[in-house]
Amino acid sequence: MPESFGWPEDPDAPRPEPAKSLLVEEGLEILSPMEGDAQELFAIVDENRAYLRKWLPWLDDVKSVDDEISLIRSLSEKKDDDFTFYIIRQFGNLVGVVSLNWVDWSNRSFGLGYWVSQSSAGQGIITKACSRLMDHCFSDLKLHRSVIEAAVENYPSRAVAERLGMRIEGISKDREWLYDHFTDSSLYAITAPEWQSRDQG
Ligand SMILES: CC(C)(COP(=O)(O)OP(=O)(O)OC[C@H]1O[C@@H](n2cnc3c(N)ncnc32)[C@H](O)[C@@H]1OP(=O)(O)O)[C@@H](O)C(=O)NCCC(=O)NCCS
Repeated sequence: MPESFGWPEDPDAPRPEPAKSLLVEEGLEILSPMEGDAQELFAIVDENRAYLRKWLPWLDDVKSVDDEISLIRSLSEKKDDDFTFYIIRQFGNLVGVVSLNWVDWSNRSFGLGYWVSQSSAGQGIITKACSRLMDHCFSDLKLHRSVIEAAVENYPSRAVAERLGMRIEGISKDREWLYDHFTDSSLYAITAPEWQSRDQG
C-alpha cells in the first residue's frame, strides 16, 4: 500500500483500496475470492450449513455454486463499495471467511464478520485472520475504529472479540433478524490508538 495517498488528511483524495491478499502467518492467508473458488466455497458452506445457520442470516440465499459465483462477481464489479470478503486458506485449504461487512469512510470505522468450518474451529484461525485484517485497516487504510457485533449468546464469536482486546460497548436490542426471530447483539469495538497500545503492552 503506497504511503503517498492523501486520504484521510484530504477527504477528496481517492480512498485506499483494501488489499487483495494478506499473509497471516506461514501457511495461513486471506485472499479476495476468485470465481474459481466458488465450487470450494459452496462445498464448505453446504457441509457446515446447520452449524453456520445458527448465527448467520444468509444461509438460505446460498443454494448453489452459481449463488457463490454471483456473490464473487458482485465484489469484483464493486456493486457494494463498502462490503468485501476474503476466503481463508490454511495450507491451501479453504477453511472459512473473514469480511469487512461495512466501511464507514466518513467516520473511518469498519465492521468485521467471520466464520470457520466446524472442523477447523478451535485453532485460533479466526482470531489471527481478524488481527491481520485489523492491522491492515488501521495501518494501511488509516481507518480508526473496528467493530464486531455478535449475538449475545454466541459465546465463541464474543470470545474472538475479547481475544482481540476489544471493549464491550453495549447490547443492541433485536439488532439482527435470524430467519424467524430477532437476536440481541453485543457490540465490541477498539480504536486504532487502543490497538497500537495493545501491541506495545
Ligand atoms: C465464531 C467462530 C468463527 C469462532 O471460531 P473459533 O475457532 O472458536 O475462533 P478462533 O479461530 O479465534 O479460535 C479460538 C479457539 O482456538 C484456540 N486457539 C488455539 N490456538 C490459538 C491462537 N494461537 N490464538 C487464538 N486462539 C487459539 C482458542 O483457545 C480457542 O479455543 P476454545 O474455543 O477451545 O476456547 C466459529 O464458532 C463460527 O464460525 N461460528 C459460526 C458462525 C458465526 O457465529 N460467526 C460469527 C457471527 S458474529
